[in-house]
Amino acid sequence: MKMAFTFGARGFILLVIAVSFLVVGEARTIVVGGSEGWRLGFNYTDWALKTSPFYLHDKLVFKYAPPSDNSVAPNVYLLPNLLSYMACNFSSAKLLATETQGSGGGFQFVLNSWRPAYFASTMEDGKHCSEGQMKFFAIPWPLPN
Ligand SMILES: *[C@@H]1O[C@H](CO)[C@@H](O)[C@H](O)[C@H]1NC(C)=O
Ligand SMILES: *[C@@H]1O[C@H](CO)[C@@H](O)[C@H](O)[C@H]1NC(C)=O
Repeated sequence: MKMAFTFGARGFILLVIAVSFLVVGEARTIVVGGSEGWRLGFNYTDWALKTSPFYLHDKLVFKYAPPSDNSVAPNVYLLPNLLSYMACNFSSAKLLATETQGSGGGFQFVLNSWRPAYFASTMEDGKHCSEGQMKFFAIPWPLPN
């Protein structure tokens, strides 16, 4: 009986610590692709799986070199829904960052909405998205304020 109580109390304290960590937890800054940045030929679906869960107010930073004479730079679009994301259909997508906006500190996007955010690069007639794996989505975990 006493042991059960002790265990229960400890469990409760751990729960309180876990919950207050979540509530107080600072918004994180996450560089998309880590040290690889936002580039062609890196699997961002895989990266997002390994990086999740994402939380509300997390800052995603897209870093990429601007275009040069012999290289194309990506861009960043926000796709409206899962279907358009899967099909790489950009007809209702919103441009977030142009080819030049990923340099320096990079382009920042804050996950401040409860909806999943679908990201992709349109470059090279959509090949960055369809064949180049330059797409992923982030579902922010719902946290109280
Ligand atoms: C990218 O990663 C995902 C998740 O790990 C995997 O299912 C998929 O096959 C990978 N794509 C390629 C082209 O390797
Ligand atoms: C692309 O999405 C738009 C709506 O966002 C839709 O009207 C159109 O039919 C889609 N195109 C294809 C090829 O699915």
